[in-house]
Amino acid sequence: MSKFSFASAQAPLPASVLAEIREDIDGRGGLSLLEIPFSTPEFEDIRAGAEADLRALLGLGDDFRALFLQGGATAMFSLAPMNLLRGGESADYVAAGLWSRRAAEAASRVANVRVAATGDGRFLPPPEDWNVSGDAAFLHLTTTETAEGLQYFAFPDLDGVPIVADMTADFLTRPVALAPFGLIYASAQKNLGVAGLTIVVVHQTLLRRASSEVPGPFSFARQAADRSKVNTPPVFAIAVAAKMLRWLREGGGLDAAAARNARKAETLYAALNTGDFYQCPATARDRSTVSVRFQLAEARLEPRFLREAEDAGLFHLKGHPAVGGLRASLYNGVTQEAVEALALFLADFARRRG
Ligand SMILES: Cc1ncc(COP(=O)(O)O)c(C=O)c1O
Repeated sequence: MSKFSFASAQAPLPASVLAEIREDIDGRGGLSLLEIPFSTPEFEDIRAGAEADLRALLGLGDDFRALFLQGGATAMFSLAPMNLLRGGESADYVAAGLWSRRAAEAASRVANVRVAATGDGRFLPPPEDWNVSGDAAFLHLTTTETAEGLQYFAFPDLDGVPIVADMTADFLTRPVALAPFGLIYASAQKNLGVAGLTIVVVHQTLLRRASSEVPGPFSFARQAADRSKVNTPPVFAIAVAAKMLRWLREGGGLDAAAARNARKAETLYAALNTGDFYQCPATARDRSTVSVRFQLAEARLEPRFLREAEDAGLFHLKGHPAVGGLRASLYNGVTQEAVEALALFLADFARRRG
């Protein structure tokens, strides 16, 4: 029986990427991927190849730098304001879900933070409701709230206030026009590989004014100057990301990725919206294509649902503990086949238990 994971992190990887990693770890007569020193031309080839593919996929111009860092998005909650804010400056935060609230809370420990908009977990405040201060150094946005299953689909130009975005959940899942963004960060373990790597894409205007007081490994300016090698980078995670980036390019780029991801989401929401056995708390306009939150009308059936799903080869469907219920993550490595297996199971479970 096939086994499929819908985990939020670690997300599944495409079979061809996994096979290549296996071969590279074996080393095919040479050194294993796990034995490559970061100071060698071999590693620089991997890093530069990853950067070239990232640039091509995003359409990055010379005005953006791409950094391959450690720490995860959670570290960026503090490191972005530490790097980007100078004494006395403040930043606005859209705090509409679990992860954006965590970002705002962490930032408020190291910087002046103003909350520009909030939400109740079932919707995202639209840009016209953001209370953006003209003197904000940036506005922070979480583009997909994974716990609540909410996603922004459009990003406005904010009259000179750059958007700093936690794009962990939807990075490289769709094309995005970069003009409104000053900085984008994303942990790798959802859409481009394994944990240990955080991609930071930063506009040179923000980089030029970045604080020089942040310690080297955490300094965006120092890491940019040193091609992300101020200290030992996460070599393995970068090598896996390089393979994911190549896989995305060879698969038709971000338009094709968006089409695949939209089809998966449509399949799943269609299965959930048949009858009233399943419920999706997120308001229809803001429903995420990559993090689908749902619940059973009869919550007491949840343990049985999860048990029977595993028996059918469908894993990691439990919702984030902060909001409860159920969740299917549909990141880049999740296949249409997996979603169709889940849709069949949803229909079957509803028929038997409804
Ligand atoms: C939207 C979002 N931001 C940030 C994080 C935290 O990422 P990390 O654990 O890599 O710091 C998560 C984790 O699931 C997330 O969903």
